[in-house]
Amino acid sequence: MTINTETILIHEGQQFNETAAVTAPVYQTSTYVADADPAAYIRAATEPKHPYFYHRHGNPTNSQVAAIIAKLEKTEDALVFATGMAAISTAILAIVKSGDHIVAQHAHYSGTSIFFKEFLTDYGITVTVVDQTDTQAFEQAIQANTKLIYVETPSNPNLNITDLKAIGALAQKHGISSMIDNTFASPINQTPKDFGIDIIVHSATKYLGGHSDLTAGIVCGPLDYIAKVWKRSLALGASLAPLDSWLLLRGIKTLSLRVKQINANALQLAEFLDQHPKVKQVSYPGLSSHPQHELAARQMSGFSGMLCIEIDGATEEQAFKNAQTLINSLQLFINAASLGGVESLVVHPASMWGGHHTKEQKEASGITLGMLRISVGIEHISDLIGDFEQALEKI
Ligand SMILES: Cc1ncc(COP(=O)(O)O)c(C=O)c1O
Repeated sequence: MTINTETILIHEGQQFNETAAVTAPVYQTSTYVADADPAAYIRAATEPKHPYFYHRHGNPTNSQVAAIIAKLEKTEDALVFATGMAAISTAILAIVKSGDHIVAQHAHYSGTSIFFKEFLTDYGITVTVVDQTDTQAFEQAIQANTKLIYVETPSNPNLNITDLKAIGALAQKHGISSMIDNTFASPINQTPKDFGIDIIVHSATKYLGGHSDLTAGIVCGPLDYIAKVWKRSLALGASLAPLDSWLLLRGIKTLSLRVKQINANALQLAEFLDQHPKVKQVSYPGLSSHPQHELAARQMSGFSGMLCIEIDGATEEQAFKNAQTLINSLQLFINAASLGGVESLVVHPASMWGGHHTKEQKEASGITLGMLRISVGIEHISDLIGDFEQALEKI
């Protein structure tokens, strides 16, 4: 029997709730009573993700949530982490070592770019970044010591698309790993395994949790690889706390409902903004004006709640001022970092990441002074459009 996404979200991983409680309890404990049988205790201490040994090794709720997300992402296994960055860094460090090389993109979540640029290079791992819209550039960047192609699509913040089928095939051809940050799409809109990508990571802080009340991350992949990631995680230590894991389990039950509503709201808002004279440009993969709309439609079943707009101005400084006025005039869209929650958020990427990126890096990532990144929530669409309508009148 094929089980559909909405049912997976409610029922998968139930075997990890060994109590009679319909809703899994919070296992708010750091450690568990040892099995009297020494052989069983040794097994508990060494088996990846054992749910009843010590928290850094595993926890029943962590296993339940991981089982749901692994199923959604069509991978054999998954491991949860305290944050998205913990998941990303541990997942990468389970593949590369000193002397190895990674091919990645110009545009990534800024924390990932910083990890590549400032952390990995200090440990003798080199990274070549390429234009994600140029599939050939990925192949040209591959070297004899390349171990990993790392992609993010749609990318943060500019909503560019990477061709997943081409990347999956390229990694297979060269016998190297492929990894995607699937945070922006969520598994409701995009399942990269279908296109031959081996490893999927998420900031579960975003759509998977969905309520802006926790931080979490997840790595999904083959069984033997997740065992390696687990071993690394014991040393790096960023395990997801019991209460946050429980909140993630609670939040994820409505993932499909939320994301479908968010997809619909975002498309309508993008269409409205696209027609507005004060908006220079709208970047939303669901709009036919997006330069990679056809590619997005081939690999995504919905286009997510993330969009970027560019506000006009006679000069760059004026565009910056207009963007600030617009942000400050919005009444429903909250000016806050993060995304993927039930509430709509808006940020000014050039300010948020200004201190971390040089002008050249911002340009390469497509970040301009008049750019706003919007995360659309589940509020009523008329109210969201109305909010932009009144705020755009102020500039
Ligand atoms: C695409 C993407 N990946 C990863 C992260 C990092 O996630 P976290 O903040 O949970 O560490 C973020 C955070 O904004 C993100 O947007």
